[in-house]
Amino acid sequence: MNDENIVEIKSLKKGFDKGKITALNGIDLTIKKGEFVSIIGPSGSGKSTLLNMIGALDRPDEGTINVAGYDLKGRKDLSEFRSREIGFIFQLHNLIPNLSVVENVEIPMFESGLSGKKMREKALILLDYMNLSDKVKRKPTELSGGERQRVAIARSLANNPSIILADEPTGSLDSKNGEMILKRLKDLHDKEEVTLIMVTHDLKVANLAERTIEVLDGKIKV
Ligand SMILES: Nc1ncnc2c1ncn2[C@@H]1O[C@H](COP(=O)(O)OP(=O)(O)OP(=O)(O)O)[C@@H](O)[C@H]1O
Ligand SMILES: [Mg+2]
Repeated sequence: MNDENIVEIKSLKKGFDKGKITALNGIDLTIKKGEFVSIIGPSGSGKSTLLNMIGALDRPDEGTINVAGYDLKGRKDLSEFRSREIGFIFQLHNLIPNLSVVENVEIPMFESGLSGKKMREKALILLDYMNLSDKVKRKPTELSGGERQRVAIARSLANNPSIILADEPTGSLDSKNGEMILKRLKDLHDKEEVTLIMVTHDLKVANLAERTIEVLDGKIKV
């Protein structure tokens, strides 16, 4: 793996339903450390599946995938990889309903070795960064969709990830909050050299990236 690259994917394939569905059909993709890449393409084309592969949430059937020096196809235990390297902003928020907002943000820090007090401090800073200081004690079900999305973003930043994978991060936000989130994500990319990989349907949002990749029928359109 070339040192400048943080993602190297070759001939990656992924099917579902015992191969009846081909979600990814030979993806070749290289992303440099610190790059900001947007991924566009029609519904069902394989964007979320690709993001899940990069975040090691699912395993490929064929091909190779190397992220931040980890061989994601060959290695068995990938929880360390995920907790060290990845911040995931899901298309659906995946917040834990019976935990409060601030507790949800603390989840990725459990393996960090920080004390409970430090975890709380950091979670509160991240929530303030997302303009949610007044909602920290609430449960996710007591929030609007856009507020939940902002909690999910705060949570994705809690482990200081080297890569942020964002699946439609502004999908459920009004334009003001959407812009705020994009600015925050872009700041992380500009100032902390975080690699940002973002799926979006919005071409205006996609154009903020340094490079846009189009996925079509499980392949990258060239
Ligand atoms: N767990 C699964 N089981 C079966 N099929 C799946 C599964 N996940 C995804 N698929 C199928 O794989 C294909 C790619 O899905 P994927 O979620 O990657 O699309 P997408 O590009 O993210 O679409 P959208 O823009 O609607 O989010 C689709 O045909 C989808 O129905
Ligand atoms: Mg999707």
